Amino acid sequence: VKRALVIAALAVACSREEPTQEVTRPQVAPIVRAPSARQLALADKLECNRCHHVPSVPAAAVRDKNCFACHQQIHQGAFDAEPDVLAKWQGRIQSMRYAPSLVVADRLQRAWVKQFLLHPHDVRPGSIAQMPRLAITDAEADELARWLVPVEDRGVVASDPSLVAHGEKLYRDFACARCHRFTGSRVDEAAMHASGRAGNEAWVLAPDLRFARERVQPGQLASWIENPRGAMEKLAGIGPDEARALAAFVATTPLAPLAKVEVPKRLPILEREVPWAEVSAKVFHDTCWHCHAVPDLARGDGGPGNSGGFGFPGRGLDLSSYTGISQGSVRDGERESIFAKLPDGTPRVIAHLMARHVEAAGGVVDGVRGMPLGLPALTLEQIQLVETWIAQGRPQ
Ligand code: HEC
Ligand code: HEC
Ligand code: HEC
Ligand code: HEC
Repeated sequence: VKRALVIAALAVACSREEPTQEVTRPQVAPIVRAPSARQLALADKLECNRCHHVPSVPAAAVRDKNCFACHQQIHQGAFDAEPDVLAKWQGRIQSMRYAPSLVVADRLQRAWVKQFLLHPHDVRPGSIAQMPRLAITDAEADELARWLVPVEDRGVVASDPSLVAHGEKLYRDFACARCHRFTGSRVDEAAMHASGRAGNEAWVLAPDLRFARERVQPGQLASWIENPRGAMEKLAGIGPDEARALAAFVATTPLAPLAKVEVPKRLPILEREVPWAEVSAKVFHDTCWHCHAVPDLARGDGGPGNSGGFGFPGRGLDLSSYTGISQGSVRDGERESIFAKLPDGTPRVIAHLMARHVEAAGGVVDGVRGMPLGLPALTLEQIQLVETWIAQGRPQ
């Protein structure tokens, strides 16, 4: 159907001199629709507002629960702590500083949003943080997608070859690659993208444009490029004609397939001794700690991996100390060691770490959620360190 529409649009575009209203849509004003009680209850249960700005929902009221806002305050120096402590934290907090606002998710296709909630993948090359894989049902994802995307504009993107070629030239002239990767396309410039980072806050939130054709509503693409919202600012010199050509280019330029991500093999156990201090510094304190802490360290909240959050029950898993990690986690009301061997001999915690590699390759491991949640998989060297420490009897 889509193809037929594009071809019809092409025929229309080719048969006349001037662009027609059929192919360029006027800017669609965002439609704010009040969420239903069910939708609000869902967002409350899953705590979307601990990371996102959610339409009609105030940010997590307690500062101590709002992951990105607190990290941002620390970076802005607005957090009440000693200067040397602040400086140390500023150096440590890199991964979770900016999350996209869901207020502008109304540009996306509803079906895409639903699929993304069920099977999130990495969209923004500049962001270390990713959308976590939540425990969410098909019906819940559907409900949330209907709220975030109240109406859809199924308009078509103009696509005659001369327009697409003009769009490509504009893409280079405006140096969109300062902020955007466009992987698999002719205009993707990793080096220009990398150099665009310094002092550019929008850089972190710029999506890889290879996904735009499957996630942005066709009827919204040109109007977004002309009058962007959220973290993308309006670019001087882009009027309706430029936006139309850029949209045609972004939506139709050929893309090389993504390189297949292979699930890597674990490295063998190390010969040398690995003490607790080393695994703690290089793994648990580095990445896991803040979601699996004790209330004191995490300022009144044990973190979602300890006292519960994002819709997950409290697992009681504290990775901030030797004693904490030795106490394991709560499953079906009972404490269980995270070092217990699964039927294939893999310690449970290692299975969770490898599951994140499977998720990065587009799969899931049944019953084993990838860790760290919402962050890239650990390196094989980090996993090897944990596995060696376990194999050596977990020396203190
Ligand atoms: C732990 C933080 C966190 C929580 C909790 C969270 N998200 Fe996200 N979400 C993210 C991050 C980070 C991204 C950006 C990921 C990317 O671009 O690769 C994202 C992306 C999204 C996107 C895509 C938007 C866009 O512009 O690309 C949607 C839609 C979304 N989240 C909806 C939700 C909903 C609904 C909830 C609650 C059910 C939720 N998120 C909970 C961190 C979170
Ligand atoms: C009250 C402020 C505050 C809140 C709220 C907060 N953090 Fe943190 N976070 C910190 C501080 C401070 C550090 C650095 C701690 C250190 O290294 O000693 C940190 C570090 C981290 C790190 C490791 C550094 C990095 O950037 O990768 C992660 C991951 C993290 N936090 C995740 C979260 C998540 C997820 C939430 C929400 C559930 C959250 N934080 C809520 C203050 C906060
Ligand atoms: C200064 C950085 C910056 C520049 C330069 C920039 N963008 Fe963006 N762009 C962004 C950010 C950030 C977003 C995501 C906004 C958000 O989620 O709040 C975005 C979103 C988009 C989207 C929506 C894609 C999606 O998947 O949601 C399109 C299309 C887009 N930009 C096209 C362009 C084009 C074409 C150019 C060059 C003319 C350009 N951008 C230049 C930062 C930039
Ligand atoms: C963004 C927050 C977050 C981060 C970062 C995180 N976790 Fe988790 N973790 C959770 C949540 C929430 C759960 C509960 C998931 C569930 O119930 O399925 C969990 C569950 C677990 C479990 C399983 C517990 C059980 O009983 O099933 C293990 C093991 C685990 N995490 C280890 C880690 C390790 C190791 C790291 C660091 C490499 C890490 N986590 C980083 C939030 C996080």
